Amino acid sequence: MENNMRPADMQRINTPELANAFIAQQVETVRAQVGDKKVLLALSGGVDSSVVAALLIKAVGKQLVCVHVNHGLMRKGESEQVIEVFQNQLDANLIYVDATDRFLNLLAGVDEPERKRKIIGGEFIKVFDEEARKLEGITFLAQGTIYPDILESDGVKAHHNVGGLPEDMHFELVEPVKLLFKDEVRVVGKALGLPDSMVERQPFPGPGLGVRCLGAITRDRLTALRESDAILREEFAKAGLADQVWQFFTVVPDFRSTGVRDGKRAFDWPVIIRAVNTVDAMTATVPQLPWAVLETVTSRVLAEVPGVCRVLYDLTPKPIGTIEWE
Ligand code: XMP
Repeated sequence: MENNMRPADMQRINTPELANAFIAQQVETVRAQVGDKKVLLALSGGVDSSVVAALLIKAVGKQLVCVHVNHGLMRKGESEQVIEVFQNQLDANLIYVDATDRFLNLLAGVDEPERKRKIIGGEFIKVFDEEARKLEGITFLAQGTIYPDILESDGVKAHHNVGGLPEDMHFELVEPVKLLFKDEVRVVGKALGLPDSMVERQPFPGPGLGVRCLGAITRDRLTALRESDAILREEFAKAGLADQVWQFFTVVPDFRSTGVRDGKRAFDWPVIIRAVNTVDAMTATVPQLPWAVLETVTSRVLAEVPGVCRVLYDLTPKPIGTIEWE
């Protein structure tokens, strides 16, 4: 267990030079550990797994097999970015599994938030496990465990996250960033050449849009959620808010409200904007967003997203309201 402890004198990696030194040292360590064997990685496209993928591609190239499971609850463009960056640009061995129908069929009619999380987490492991069993000669499993995961849990990336080891599969672990804090992982990711949009991403829950499409998930509301979230992200980026607000997203509830469209009565979904600032996600405040940005997002959502007739801004701090709605 002692190599799971960060040495007291370990320097904080906060410059490209320190990141490059860390990368060079990890490349050697990983090569020594892995030899000519194969390594498997569940690549969600989040900061940690993306940085581990880029690092391992540098260390062992095609001996790394990445599996990206699209559970159908990703944000707009996320799976496409994983394919673009890892398959097209970095020439990785990437297996892309579109499991959208599987997840949405299982989730149909399920409205209890923790049950939804369990289904998404359980099915993720199942799909990953099925893919792993199709592969021959895998010895190692790489994981994007970071130091807070070790400090906060029992040393695996368990906290809140979808994923984990299939129970009867016995791989040796490769965890090259396990002694790093999040800000250091980002610096290493940049030094590895990953795009800012991947490395600077805000936190995104493992169950993804599944906990923001409230109640029983339906495809029409999931589309409204994905499209409105993309508009919000675009307008926040344009207004220079993306790196000032800690986390922001939209939520689509499972009740409708009345509207008027083209002179006719509409009965459509509301979209709720959630934006918070926090240090540790235990408490959070709601920023005073510029009115003009809220107005632009509102008019774009109403004009561009089918089935939406109302836009709201959630002013609730945490506590009492959690950051996510479910
Ligand atoms: P809450 O809603 O508890 O969120 O105030 C605190 C932070 O945790 C994220 N979150 C999750 N992350 N799986 C995750 O990986 C989850 O089930 C989950 N629920 C909440 C949330 O986005 C926020 O950053």
